[in-house]
Parts: sequence; C-alpha cells; structure tokens
Amino acid sequence: MRFDVITLFPSMFEGALSESILKIAQEKGLVSIHLHNLRDHTLDPHRKVDDRPFGGGPGMVLAPDPVFRAYEAVIEEMGGAVGVRKVVLSPQGRRYDQALAREFAREKALLLLCGHYEGFDERIRLGLPFEEVSIGDYVLTGGEIPAMAILDSVIRLLPGVVGDPASLEEESFSAGMLDYPHYTRPREYRGMTVPEVLVSGDHAKILEWRREQALRRTKEMRRDLLGPEGQGDRDTSATQTGDRS
Ligand code: ADE
Repeated sequence: MRFDVITLFPSMFEGALSESILKIAQEKGLVSIHLHNLRDHTLDPHRKVDDRPFGGGPGMVLAPDPVFRAYEAVIEEMGGAVGVRKVVLSPQGRRYDQALAREFAREKALLLLCGHYEGFDERIRLGLPFEEVSIGDYVLTGGEIPAMAILDSVIRLLPGVVGDPASLEEESFSAGMLDYPHYTRPREYRGMTVPEVLVSGDHAKILEWRREQALRRTKEMRRDLLGPEGQGDRDTSATQTGDRS
C-alpha cells in the first residue's frame, strides 16, 4: 500500500518510520511511504505557508495556495486521484477508531495532510476532496502525530506486516472490548502470581478466563463500548487497547 504525507515537518516522521514494524513493512516492500514538505509548494520567496487571519484573532492560518499546489503535485505523482483515500488531520474531524483503520487498510493508497498553526483557510475544506479525521478530543500542535498514529494503526493491519496473524485474528475476535491481562515469566514477581488458569494448559478454560477478564475490564473502564444493553457487540467499531505487537 502507498502512503503519502503532506507536512511542514517531514523530519518528525523519521523516528517513527525507521523503527520496529513500520521499518520492516517498508523493507519487505509491503508499504511505501512518501513524505512531501508543504514548504516546497509555496511560491512565496520566503517559503511562507501561513498568514494572519482576516477579522483578527490569535495565531496564523495555513494559506490555501501552498496546500492546493501540494495536493495537485502529490496526486499527479501518485498517478491520479482514483483509489486514493484523502484525509486531513484536524480536531474537527470524524473520530478515528479501529473500524476506520480497517477501512483505510483496504484502500490502494492513503494521502494524509497535516495542518499546523491555528487552522486551515476554509477554502482548503471547501475546494479539496479531503475527509477530516481527528484522533481524539484534544488539540495537538499539528497533524503530524495523528498522521503517525494512522500510519502505524493501518500498516500493522496489512497482510504480511505483523509476524503472527493470529494476534490480529484474536483482536477482531474480541473487537468491541478492551484487552485481557497478559503475563509472562516469572510466575511469581514481588509477591504477585500468574493466575493458575494460564498455566493449566486447558485452552478452553484460558479462552473463557480471557473473555471474562476482557468483559470485566470493559465494564469497569469503558462501559460505553458495550452499548445500551451492556452486552457488547463484537462487531462494533470499538477497539482493543493494549500493546499487541
Ligand atoms: N490536529 C490537532 N489536533 C488534532 C487531533 N486531535 N486530531 C487530528 N488532528 C489534529
């Protein structure tokens, strides 16, 4: 799958893309990630991409021309807009979740536009075909960290990226609930012991215990995920938490 990112800070992505699973996915040729510096698309002699807001107010606004130009150049480089999902990161957007990550993972290509400063000139919203996505109800200084979250969560879902596909299967199996507790060696650590069932070798019992624990945690921490009946809908868009890589 191809990923393109338009950003004012391409170097922010270097660490995230050069470690662990994202690095391996690129090395295996499963993904290609292309970073585009928005500043390369401004005609301003000082490479300025922002300006003061009409009507006054604090902060700077991302001007339309560099963004329109960057969009057109990147789409051309991508071979056209067909099959490209176009996403702008913004706190005003649709809330990102695991269901949307799965949807993105089925696309041929993803183009991410990262904003910065106080916001975008409204003509960017009106004149370009981006859908707006937010990673949560808090405001970051820019769209780079949200874009990295999307890259990470989509890439790990692509076939062949995560070494053991069972871990992804297990995730979709328990989708809609929080993760169950995990233990590794030693069996006893500072007075805390591994639950007996996990070392029993009884796989049916282990499965049942994990399901109960996941449900208990979900009820305690995120009752909203279980829906109005509190029964849980394993096909909902809700996601597991926890580190499954
Ligand atoms: N840019 C700033 N805050 C953001 C958020 N929460 N989600 C997506 N993009 C953002």
